[in-house]
Amino acid sequence: MSTVSSRISGTADFEAGLGDIVSLCKRRGFVFPSSEIYGGLASCWDYGPLGVELKQNLRNLWWEFMVTTRDDVVGMDGSILMHPETWVASGHVDSFHDPMVDCRVCKKRFRLDQLENPDQKNCPECGGKESLTEPRNFNLMLATQLGPLDETGMKVYLRPETCQSIYLDFKQIQQVMRLRVPFGIAQVGKSFRNEIVTKAFIFRSREFEQMEMQFFIREAEGPKWFEYWKGERWRFYTEILGVSADKLRWRAHEQLAHYARAAEDIEYEFPFGWKELEGVHNRGDFDLSQHAGHSGKNLSYRDDLSGEVFVPHVIETSAGLDRSILTVLCDAYDKDIADGEERTVLRFHPRVAPVQVGVFPLMKKPPLVEVARRLELELRQRERMRAFYDETGQIGRRYRRQDEVGTPYCITIDFETLEKNDATVRDRDTMLQERVGLDRMAEYLRNKIYRET
Ligand code: GAP
Repeated sequence: MSTVSSRISGTADFEAGLGDIVSLCKRRGFVFPSSEIYGGLASCWDYGPLGVELKQNLRNLWWEFMVTTRDDVVGMDGSILMHPETWVASGHVDSFHDPMVDCRVCKKRFRLDQLENPDQKNCPECGGKESLTEPRNFNLMLATQLGPLDETGMKVYLRPETCQSIYLDFKQIQQVMRLRVPFGIAQVGKSFRNEIVTKAFIFRSREFEQMEMQFFIREAEGPKWFEYWKGERWRFYTEILGVSADKLRWRAHEQLAHYARAAEDIEYEFPFGWKELEGVHNRGDFDLSQHAGHSGKNLSYRDDLSGEVFVPHVIETSAGLDRSILTVLCDAYDKDIADGEERTVLRFHPRVAPVQVGVFPLMKKPPLVEVARRLELELRQRERMRAFYDETGQIGRRYRRQDEVGTPYCITIDFETLEKNDATVRDRDTMLQERVGLDRMAEYLRNKIYRET
C-alpha cells in the first residue's frame, strides 16, 4: 500500500531543521510513525515510553494550571462523536475547508494558500507548465458511519475541535455546578482533521490532541478577559513549561472570522519558522447562539442575584498538545562539548522531563547495586518522582544516555556512599557534581524540580 504522503505535498519544507529532532525522537522512543511495519500512515504518529511520559506531563501541567489551581474553571470530557447537526451549527460543514490544486503532471497536491501566488499555474514541485488545476474546496472533517448497514447508517464526523462539546454542555454544567459568570470549562482530548499538507512531523497531524478552555463572560468584559487570558497563557509557556520567552511572540489575526471580536496566536520560532502554537479568541456569543438556534434549546444564562438573562460571550484559549510537545522538544534540543566529545542534550525543565532523576551504582557490584536500587525505589514510589535505574556501561556513557533524553539530575552511588551515606548528584546543564546526603536527597531534588522557573 502506498502511503498517503507520497501523493500529497506542500511548498513549505516543514521538516527543514527538524531532522535531528525527528531522528532523536525515534531512536530514544519519544515519537515514531504509526503502523510503521506496514509502511506507516501519513501524518499519524505513535508516542513511545518517553514520549507518552512527556505528553502526560504537559497535559497534567496544563490541567493543573487551567483547572485544579483555579476556582472559576471546571473540566469535562466529551465524546469524540457528536450529533452531526453540531457541525452544521458551528459552520464546519459549510466552511471548514482548504482550497487546493493538483498538478496534472506529477500528481502532487498543494494548498492554495501555500503557493507563492494564488494565480500560479506552474507546478512548484516538478515545474510542469500550466499543469495546476483550478482550486477545489477540500473539507477537512473526517467522516464515519454509525449503525450496522451502509444504507441506514448515520454519517457522523470525528470532531475537528474539542470546544464544541463545551458549548453543547454549557447549560448542564453551569446548572449542576451552580456556576456564576464569569467561569470557564476546560477539556483535553483528541481532534481529527484531514489535513492536506502533512510534512510537518507532529506539528500538523491528522489525529492530534487539543487543550481548550472556554471562558463565559458578560459582553462588556470581553477586552478585559481577553488580555487576562493572553497573560495567563504566556505565563504557562514561560514559567510552567520553561520555554524561552525570546522564541515566543503574539501575532494578531489580520482577518477575523465574521463573528470574532479579537484573535491572537502565540507563535513559537520553530526550526522551520514562526508558527502558531496556540490561539486566544474572543468569539462573542456566536457559538452559544448558533447551537441555541439549531437545537431549539434555550442556552441563555440567568444570574440568580441580579436576575439578568443573557447569552454569555466566550474567550477561548485553544492549544495543541502535540504542538506543545514539539515546542518543548525544539526549545530543549542542544549540542555542546562534554569531556572533549560532542554531546546531544535535551534541556527540559525538570518539571517537564520524562525522567527526572537517574540513579546509578558506580559499578555493578554489591552492595552498591542494592543501595542504588533502594534509593531509586524510594524516589519513584514514595516521592512519586520519575526515576530511572541504570547499571550498564561506563558512568560517562550512562550520563550521556540520560542527557540525550533530558534527565536533569543523575545520582551515582560509589564506595564513599558506604562510608559517608552521601552520593554524587550531577547536573545535566552545568555538568557539575555535588555530594548530597542520602537522608536529604529527596528534599534536595524536590527543591530543584519544583522550583518556579
Ligand atoms: N477551537 C479553535 C481551534 O480549534 P485552531 O487554531 O484550529 O482553533 C487550535 O486550533 C490549536 O490546535 C492550534 O493552535 C494548534 O496548536 C492545534 N492544532 C490545530 N490543527 C492541528 C493539527 N492538524 N495538528 C496538530 N495540532 C493542531
